[in-house]
Amino acid sequence: MSETMLYVSKIKDGTVIDHITGGHALDVVKILGITGKEKRIITIAINVPSKRFGVKDIVKIEGRELNPQEVHKIALLAPHATINIIRNYNVVEKQRVRLPSIIEHIIQCDNPACVSNSNEPVKAKFYVKNEEPLLLKCHYCSYIMEKGDVLKQF
Ligand code: CTP
Ligand code: ZN
Repeated sequence: MSETMLYVSKIKDGTVIDHITGGHALDVVKILGITGKEKRIITIAINVPSKRFGVKDIVKIEGRELNPQEVHKIALLAPHATINIIRNYNVVEKQRVRLPSIIEHIIQCDNPACVSNSNEPVKAKFYVKNEEPLLLKCHYCSYIMEKGDVLKQF
C-alpha cells in the first residue's frame, strides 16, 4: 500500500487485528472490552478497501495481546481475520483466526427450553455448520444460531 493510501499509522508494540469482515470492527472492540477510557492507543478502521475481500475493518491496540477466548469470539464474527503481534514495529507473529468445529462455553443456546439453559450442570455446546454466514447447531436441542443471535450475547 503506498503512502497516499495509508489509512492508519503503524503501531510500535501490540496487536493488529486485520481482515475483519467489513462492518464488524466495533463488535471486535466490544469483545475485547475496550471502552476508550484505557490509556492506550486504539485505532479502528471501518470499510477500508481490501484486495482480497473488497472491504475490511482493522483494529489496532497498542500494548496488549489477546487471549484464546477473545480470539474464538472474533472468529465467530470475522472468520478471515488475522491477528498480528507487533514488537518494535515488526510483525513477529501472524495467525489467522480459526473457528473450531465445536464451540463450547462461549455462547448460550437461545432456546429457553434447551437443557443447557436448565439447572442441570450441562454446558452449552454447538456444532459449526457453516462459517460464513455463520450457522451453529445446538448439540442438545438442534436449535440453529446465526451471527445476529451470537452478537447479542457479546
Ligand atoms: N501493522 C501495523 N504496525 C506495524 C506493522 C504492521 O499496524 N508496526 C499492520 C499493517 O498495517 C497490516 C498488518 O499490521 O494491517 C499486517 O502487517 P503486514 O504483515 O506487514 O501486512 P500484509 O503483508 O499486508 O499482511 P497480510 O499478508 O496479512 O495481508
Ligand atoms: Zn439448545
